[in-house]
Amino acid sequence: MQLQQNISLLPYNTFGIDVRAEYFAAVEQLQDVDEISALPHPVHILGGGSNILLTAPVKGLVLHNRLKGKTLLQENDSHVWLQVQAGEVWHSLVLYAIDNGWGGLENLALIPGTVGASPIQNIGAYGAEARDTIEQVTFRHLSEKTMHTFSNADCGFGYRDSIFKGELKDKVFITSVVFKLSKHPVLNTGYGAIEQELERMGATDLSVKTIAQAVINIRSSKLPDPAVLGNAGSFFKNPTIPRVQYEKLLAAFPAMPHYSVSNELVKVPAAWLIEQCGWKGYRNGDAGVHKNQALVLVNYGAATGEELWRLSGEIVVSVKEKFNIEPEREVQVW
Ligand code: FAD
Ligand code: EPU
Repeated sequence: MQLQQNISLLPYNTFGIDVRAEYFAAVEQLQDVDEISALPHPVHILGGGSNILLTAPVKGLVLHNRLKGKTLLQENDSHVWLQVQAGEVWHSLVLYAIDNGWGGLENLALIPGTVGASPIQNIGAYGAEARDTIEQVTFRHLSEKTMHTFSNADCGFGYRDSIFKGELKDKVFITSVVFKLSKHPVLNTGYGAIEQELERMGATDLSVKTIAQAVINIRSSKLPDPAVLGNAGSFFKNPTIPRVQYEKLLAAFPAMPHYSVSNELVKVPAAWLIEQCGWKGYRNGDAGVHKNQALVLVNYGAATGEELWRLSGEIVVSVKEKFNIEPEREVQVW
């Protein structure tokens, strides 16, 4: 592994923040992962940089995950078990599954980033989550210098959450993920505007391919393209609150949207809360809140990570004041 020094991370994060890493190295093969303990510390694992906010120069070593490859481990009449190296691009995997007619990933089309990051926050969109298809996650424990394979149940998956964001945060390098994909896909068109979009497309043959296309169309119309406008997708999670609290709020804000989580819990769209506080389209210097999607903080060019962090803090305070709900950041802050 070639160690470089004082490298700008500008090309490596979708917010487009220009800070430097003290050391930088690309992980191209599994043997490289074994060498990590002998390299400068602390170690920071970087995939596509689409869920991080860089607030200061990074001390220690940034390891850019470029582990590539896919192996068909097993198949039967109904399923395939596909092992995918962690540095593969997520959307390329989705397209590969679609080309093979395998179902399970189509609703997660066009999510940026790498396969190795997909279990970390259990990526989700349009009625699907990574945990629905993940069978196993293999990783190296950096300080113990040991390899482990976790089953789906070991990963502690939740909404935008897993053991890799909790107990094992910053302690492991995920090297590969095994997905169980269906040869007889059950199509999931029930979420949001998918059905409307399929109708608009005039799609008569429903397949994993048409569903993915509908999702791609909806996402492209709603979310800013990081190649054009720096962002990291949703900056906050959608808060889950007790139903009693929701009912009280509803009396004061009758238009408040919600999704039922259970008898006791309700999820409220953070975008709505943030918009109600007047932030949608806000801009201060180059740091702002997207004009069409209030959950997405944007960098118009030269915003610093600190400025975006400060803005996110102001949003938290105002949402807390108005609704007594404290939005939790989804983006990982370095
Ligand atoms: P990075 O940003 O590089 O890393 C994220 C975190 O994971 C870091 O803390 C990093 O250290 C850690 N990490 C990364 N790889 C590894 C590894 N191999 N081993 C150990 N730790 C690792 N997310 C959703 O869930 N749903 C969406 O619909 C969605 N839409 C998005 C839309 C846009 C326009 C953007 C910019 C982002 C969106 N995201 C969404 C967020 C993001 O795409 C996901 O969180 C994605 O999984 C991040 O992958 P990455 O490789 O870029 O991770
Ligand atoms: N809304 C507003 N104002 C806005 C935008 C949305 O009030 O500016 C309200 C509307 O009521 C809308 C609701 O919020 O119906 C939900 O909006 P949207 O469908 O755009 O989804 P979201 O809740 O904002 C979540 C995920 C996205 C994922 C989409 C689609 C989180 C934190 N975000 O966004 O994931 O792509 O649903 O499933 O759960 C990400 O995690 O980075 C991400 C982009």
